[in-house]
Amino acid sequence: MDGPNETVRKAATSARMYDFYLGGAHNFAADRQAALKVIEQYPAVPAVARANRAFLGRAVRFLADAGVRQFLDIGSGIPTVGNVHEIAQRAAPDARVVYVDIDPVAVAESRELLHGNDRATAIHGDLRDPKAIVANQGLLDVTRPVAVVLAAVLHFVPDDTQAYGLVDELLAVLPAGSHLVVSHGAAETFGLGDERTAAARAVYTRQTSTAGKPRTKQEVERFFGSRCALVDPGVTWAPDWRPAAGDPTDFAYDTRRSGMWAAVGLVQAA
Ligand SMILES: C[S@@+](CC[C@H](N)C(=O)[O-])C[C@H]1O[C@@H](n2cnc3c(N)ncnc32)[C@H](O)[C@@H]1O
Repeated sequence: MDGPNETVRKAATSARMYDFYLGGAHNFAADRQAALKVIEQYPAVPAVARANRAFLGRAVRFLADAGVRQFLDIGSGIPTVGNVHEIAQRAAPDARVVYVDIDPVAVAESRELLHGNDRATAIHGDLRDPKAIVANQGLLDVTRPVAVVLAAVLHFVPDDTQAYGLVDELLAVLPAGSHLVVSHGAAETFGLGDERTAAARAVYTRQTSTAGKPRTKQEVERFFGSRCALVDPGVTWAPDWRPAAGDPTDFAYDTRRSGMWAAVGLVQAA
């Protein structure tokens, strides 16, 4: 069990570090210190976070325009610019959104932002227990299609059996016509086994309770399994997934540097 020193060492969280990368204000000294250690190894990490947010925005807009009206955003993080409910409800005011996060600060901030919005809510939940999330979410009709958003969160489930198993479990309870949105840290970028990769990953392992594991393009494809048909253009670097005007230009010179795989799949009949 963690002693008091361990509790202090692990005081950072991935949600608040990510908030810091994005220039947000909902982070503490321990989060900033841990995030700066990662940035020291990978100066591009804030740009990676921006590229990821931009992909998320385009994916939600694409789905809302295609008629999707229910979103389950797991590992949703601390609210920032371009949250799922803002994009979805701008396109379709009747869209319903449930945010789920393991970090109580993320849940509290989301609830505050959603005050007065009866078509969006935030709950505390663990991606590794998808049945409990589906049972507790309370707003979505899961007998009808739902878009499950797993943006930059599956790499915080390092155990492969657990990671692929939980996605299969989620897909099994959702009807055909549902969607799966995934973005995922790339092993091609962050899994090189060199010193700086090891140092950056050690920050998450030692200072947060969410160790990280990047995966290859093929491993990300595997999340869509046999039940999903990948929406065009398949699994791509985040900036390459249906790029749009106004996207960040950080990786315009080489999208492979974005370090994040991204894709959307359509759930097929079993
Ligand atoms: C990098 S942030 C991504 C936030 C947002 N999805 C985005 O893409 O902008 C990862 C989020 O996943 C959450 N998270 C990590 N492990 C989780 C788990 N097992 N269950 C639910 N949320 C988790 C963290 O608390 C954090 O808010």
